[in-house]
Amino acid sequence: MDPAQSPVVIGVRELVVGFGDHIVLDHLSLDVRRGEILGVVGASGGGKSVLLRTIIGLLPKRSGTIVVLGADRDTASFEAMRAIERRWGVLFQQGALFSSLTVRQNVEFPMREYLKLSQKLQTEVAMAKLGMVGINADDAEKYPAELSGGMTKRVALARALALDPEIVFLDEPTSGLDPISAGDFDTLIKTLQQTLGLTVFMVTHDLDSLFAVCDRVAALVDGKVIAEGPIAAMLACEHPWVKAYFQGKRARETTHAFNHPAS
Ligand SMILES: Nc1ncnc2c1ncn2[C@@H]1O[C@H](COP(=O)(O)OP(=O)(O)O)[C@@H](O)[C@H]1O
Ligand SMILES: [Mg+2]
Repeated sequence: MDPAQSPVVIGVRELVVGFGDHIVLDHLSLDVRRGEILGVVGASGGGKSVLLRTIIGLLPKRSGTIVVLGADRDTASFEAMRAIERRWGVLFQQGALFSSLTVRQNVEFPMREYLKLSQKLQTEVAMAKLGMVGINADDAEKYPAELSGGMTKRVALARALALDPEIVFLDEPTSGLDPISAGDFDTLIKTLQQTLGLTVFMVTHDLDSLFAVCDRVAALVDGKVIAEGPIAAMLACEHPWVKAYFQGKRARETTHAFNHPAS
């Protein structure tokens, strides 16, 4: 199904989030539709991670509404919200893995939290998820300190997929990776999204990622979504920040490749 026609799975309306006098999100509204990969871009410190963390309930909002998979935290019961939380997975920007747990134990962790499975079954599921993200069984008993940056991100992705989520939240999944590892990770995200039918909310400042995987982009500026649409619409957007971001010097090469796929 064309994601543009799909139901809204994350609906944010007039969201206000702040810390003390500092208003980070200022009446922000945004929809995410089932089956799409939405890329969220914006200046560093602009509130992308705050938006993600508020949507999943880790940060409080001042006002506005957030409805995820039909549930509004303001009105849903604790049990209902917990049932909804099982239906998403998260890859955080910082400290992706628990350093005292092995790779396998990291992936088992959400199952321990939310499911009543035997240890044997947890391990089987964890190994299957690790296989999906391209981690060898040999690496399952390693600790995070023994992993490369790319492997760490893959394990974190496997953990985000542990509960067979419908929505995956990714916060700067390719930051800190070399371009080749980042490209491989983009391909992995796209493949998993298509095979598992995921909805993906991806914060990124990686233009290559945006072009390679996102169906739609939302630009967060001054606490609001000031532009949203497919890449082509963003390239045509006249807003100064969007123009600078997509048509800046760093962007030129990627944009050229997008507009001239044969060259
Ligand atoms: N827990 C917090 N307490 C106070 N300020 C915070 C907190 N989390 C984020 N901020 C501030 O909110 C702003 C947006 O941060 P963030 O969402 O992390 O930006 P980014 O778009 O780079 O992800 C920043 O000014 C940051 O310092
Ligand atoms: Mg951030």
